[in-house]
Amino acid sequence: MSLKDKIDKNKIPEHIAIIMDGNGRWAKQRGKMRIAGHNQGAKTLKDIIKIATELEIKYLTVYAFSTENWDRPAKEISGLLSLLVNSIDQEIENANKNGIKISVIGDISRFPKKVKSKIQNVVELTKNNKKLNVIIALSYSGRWEIVEASKKIAKDVKNNIIGFEDISEEKFSDYLDTSEIPDPELLIRTSGEKRISNFLLYQIAYTELYFTDVLWPDFSENELYKAILEYIGRERRFGKTSEQIK
Ligand code: FPP
Repeated sequence: MSLKDKIDKNKIPEHIAIIMDGNGRWAKQRGKMRIAGHNQGAKTLKDIIKIATELEIKYLTVYAFSTENWDRPAKEISGLLSLLVNSIDQEIENANKNGIKISVIGDISRFPKKVKSKIQNVVELTKNNKKLNVIIALSYSGRWEIVEASKKIAKDVKNNIIGFEDISEEKFSDYLDTSEIPDPELLIRTSGEKRISNFLLYQIAYTELYFTDVLWPDFSENELYKAILEYIGRERRFGKTSEQIK
């Protein structure tokens, strides 16, 4: 029985988030420039999006560029931005053909004008697609998002749009970049690092975490099945006891 066949379709997570780590090490192992790792990583992402569509996953959030990534060498940043722009150009038709909606979370105001308008364009052109929502985190960090949400709430309270007493966990979620998106059930991080690196801090309170040593460019279809199978095998208690869940 293949790994895919072992997956109970009714138990597949609705939302998977991925920290796509290890592109640089993948390139280094092959004596290549770091950008070669990112190029391969983009191919992996394309493959994983296809599999996610087949599995009828509804949301896939990927960490493509963190707030902290702005501190990388200028050459790597410009390489990543070119890769992003080229990938958008190549994939827009495919996204519309396959019902893929592209959304973005993060501070895209920091991107050069050309990159920003490419991003806005792909978001606009795919906004009515219903099958899979691919959410790309760009110039994103969880703390940034939480601070921005807090500022927006403070402003709305000040302007009497909401009352101080209306602020709740749920209301707070409405002010995050992910307001329309349910929390991920599963977060995957590749490359052996076991940390969250400022990703979706508010949203992953009860998310199952899955770490694998596989570098992102090598993350295959079967690796995704393995992560999903491990997730399905876990007991999610949300703070309750095992007996209460059963
Ligand atoms: C982390 O690996 C990866 C990134 C900072 C970039 C992720 C980008 C892609 C997978 C490219 C495709 C994305 C789009 C949206 C086209 P790293 O560079 O930190 O690797 P290292 O830890 O081995 O150095």
